[in-house]
Amino acid sequence: EEIKGESNKLKLPEILEPDFERENEVSYTLKTQRGETQLKEGRKTATMGYNGSYLGPILKMRKGQTVHIKTENNLSEETTFHWHGLKIPSDVDGGPHSPVEPNQTAQIDFEVNQEAATLWFHPHALGTTAEQVYYGLAGLIYVEDEQTDRLDLPKEYGVNDFPLILQDRNLDENNQLDYERSYNPDGVYGNTLLVNGTLNPYVEVKNEKVRLRLVNGSNARNYQLALNNQARFYQIASDGGFLEEPVEMTSLVLAPGERAEIIIDLEDYPEGETIQLMDGETTVLDIGVKGTTDVKKELPRKLNTIPVRETSDSLPVKKMTLAGMGYMVSIDGKQFDMNRIDMEETQGETAIWEIYNAPDMMGGMAHPFHVHGLQFKIISRDGKTPPLNEQGWKDTVLIEAGETVQLELEFPEKGIFMYHCHILEHEDVGMMGQVEVK
Ligand code: C2O
Ligand code: CU
Repeated sequence: EEIKGESNKLKLPEILEPDFERENEVSYTLKTQRGETQLKEGRKTATMGYNGSYLGPILKMRKGQTVHIKTENNLSEETTFHWHGLKIPSDVDGGPHSPVEPNQTAQIDFEVNQEAATLWFHPHALGTTAEQVYYGLAGLIYVEDEQTDRLDLPKEYGVNDFPLILQDRNLDENNQLDYERSYNPDGVYGNTLLVNGTLNPYVEVKNEKVRLRLVNGSNARNYQLALNNQARFYQIASDGGFLEEPVEMTSLVLAPGERAEIIIDLEDYPEGETIQLMDGETTVLDIGVKGTTDVKKELPRKLNTIPVRETSDSLPVKKMTLAGMGYMVSIDGKQFDMNRIDMEETQGETAIWEIYNAPDMMGGMAHPFHVHGLQFKIISRDGKTPPLNEQGWKDTVLIEAGETVQLELEFPEKGIFMYHCHILEHEDVGMMGQVEVK
């Protein structure tokens, strides 16, 4: 075990101070910029960030609030500001249709019409999403609501409630991120794991229940998370909100774009004990128990109510096929064309999409499938009910090679929305389609 220093202390994104806030309204300014960041000992790394040199702040917003965001692009290239997981109209969704040119600003306004969840934002410019995310453009959105206030869950930021943005990166001999050099059309994988931009991070907590908001902000890597002592933990939320009940688990797969909130129970751990969150053999986070408390808390049994559709009516099943590798990836044999509408749906009506990931002669690969503008439900995986931790709101679903997944979706807003593979290199080479909601 290496000795950890101050620089390994988990970095916490700042909670962005609103430009103004009233009960029903909040206003933020978000700026992309280039900068230099001390990611590793030695030379600083040239990076990109929002309102800072690497990653971005947390934007808090409440259900029912009107949100105003002034976006500003201080890069020398075009970008967009995409709000991954927000149920908002397509003209403010920040997809490839809404570029913000260098030195330009844009103003967006929308209403938060969804429940408490940990969402994120990142660029979505045509063909350059992966590179911009790789250099550091990504940030978090915390949606809060009455449920957040009511549920007795850990919610002290940086004390017992931590965001963990997981990203793998390649730092070269000069500590630089060289996207071109690392490029692979099937996804850029790194040999160095950064959590909120921290190398080999640790946190110190009391012997209490600790909440981790896990965000896979990697370009392509899936994580298989577990505790080093195989202890159980509880998943309480998926992409779009709280699960019905805490789900007891010992390991969790998180694909690019996905979020999961978990609770680790440290109440019975003595002072000085450490526990590791692992991804296989790699330590993701060192958690040290420092300081004790006598307060013990039961996890709420009931977290949320996820409505179930009456399924006597049979809806048409719309089928889609994911296929290919590298530059040949496709959805239904096609690659992205901004001038083509691939699917049509009706606002407020339930639709069933069946997505088949066709294996190739080499076996194929898993694709995390993401849909903009809504939160969907996973009806089945290969005809079977999905596991309990996948029975809540989702906006991204990992589909294994050879697997067929059925989704139940309802678009709350009109407009043109993207659906795509969240392996960012696949998205950039065209594994993306457009659904027009009328
Ligand atoms: Cu997080 Cu269209 O993406
Ligand atoms: Cu893919």
